Amino acid sequence: MTKTTADYRRLDAAHYMHPFTDGGALGAGARIIARGEGVYLWDTDGNKLLDGMSGLWCVNMGYGREEIVRAVEKQLRALPYYNSFFQCATPPAVELAAKLAEVAPPGFSHVFFTGSGSEANDTVVRLIRRYWELRGQPQRTVIISRKNAYHGSTMAGASLGGMAAMHAQGGLPIPGITHVRQPYFFEEGRGMNPDEFGKLAARAVAEKIGEIGAETTAAFIGEPVQGAGGVITPPPSYWPEVRRICEANDIPIIADEVICGFGRLGRWFGSEHFGIAPKLMPVAKGMTSGYLPMGGVLVHDEIAEIINEGGEFAHGFTYGGHPACAAAALANIELMQTENIIEKVRDNIAPYFQERWRQLASHPLVGDARGVGMVAAIELVADKESGARFNCKPGAGEICRDKSMQCGLVMRAVRDTMIAAPPLVISRAEIDELAAKAMEALDKTQKALGR
Ligand SMILES: Cc1ncc(COP(=O)(O)O)c(C=O)c1O
Repeated sequence: MTKTTADYRRLDAAHYMHPFTDGGALGAGARIIARGEGVYLWDTDGNKLLDGMSGLWCVNMGYGREEIVRAVEKQLRALPYYNSFFQCATPPAVELAAKLAEVAPPGFSHVFFTGSGSEANDTVVRLIRRYWELRGQPQRTVIISRKNAYHGSTMAGASLGGMAAMHAQGGLPIPGITHVRQPYFFEEGRGMNPDEFGKLAARAVAEKIGEIGAETTAAFIGEPVQGAGGVITPPPSYWPEVRRICEANDIPIIADEVICGFGRLGRWFGSEHFGIAPKLMPVAKGMTSGYLPMGGVLVHDEIAEIINEGGEFAHGFTYGGHPACAAAALANIELMQTENIIEKVRDNIAPYFQERWRQLASHPLVGDARGVGMVAAIELVADKESGARFNCKPGAGEICRDKSMQCGLVMRAVRDTMIAAPPLVISRAEIDELAAKAMEALDKTQKALGR
């Protein structure tokens, strides 16, 4: 017999420990999502939702893509699993490695596969420290990251990340990782112009290098746009200055492309949009459009050659380069190419999305509306002039997220910042619908806040 929503909720409450969830506060129970098509989802009660978050920033090519499903099915029948240890490989993993070299910026002709974005970030810690060992500078171990960054949830990923709530549990960060300020103009740049602020935020990297010494610094890591931290779009002056500082000190940049990679900013990689010139790029999410879990690190030749010539790199995962996941990624990337999705996003869809999204700034609750490519944020404020926040429980963001769901739109709340990252295949008409629903959710939030 088919299970009802109530059945699922009962079983869920009894057995399922949810990630990043207060288990005691699940309230009426989880919403059970049962089906997806294009940019839409349906729950087990038949409610239709426009997925403004692409799942978790990953379903870039939308739901229900038969090409990916068929490729995975074919691979599962031919060979559901084999590993890449002990001098073996599988056809889809090899083909995917070559395909990634084709779409990556020049100089990135190697990849190390992982099962997720977190594992990719664990891998960059091991890769970069190994690289410096092989270059005869084993003391270069410290990785500079940023406060409010998100790099995953494993011990290394959470430590690279700068989430205070994550560091508060379980004795993080692990040693050898240090954090500097983020380029969050709305919160930290009041009274300055964005250009000035971007340079100031970048200078924190130089100050940190001065404090710990370039001779102990292994790398600087950053998301081109901080996603989970609240879609923190850096001022245009930020990345060029960070790049200049890192190059002057021979410090490789690691661009965490887990969200920004695979078209999200209208280029294959977010680094290309900002001119970051990284040496390592952790990827995941959009590589398979979330159809199957897969991650990896794109490794610049300068690093790959040294690692490859340095004997065994003692690192790897059972599911790294999983053939079915690699088949999903290949089909997904080929779909991106045949549908010219990068160009469509860059020239048509992202400019329209940003135009419609920025109109939300006219709402009395919105202190800032920003974004780049297909990521965007609005700041909910009690006072537009000063940017003062609401100080209530539940928070304004939480209220707005729930109202948004009631309006049939998935938006995510990061504190009182509402964020969106819809599938790249969203149409102009669907963007209109997203913007209208977001506006309606803001009206309902305003009412709930007694404004
Ligand atoms: C920038 C970034 N890096 C890493 C991760 C971790 O990826 P995963 O959840 O696949 O481990 C995420 C997940 O949201 C992310 O946004």
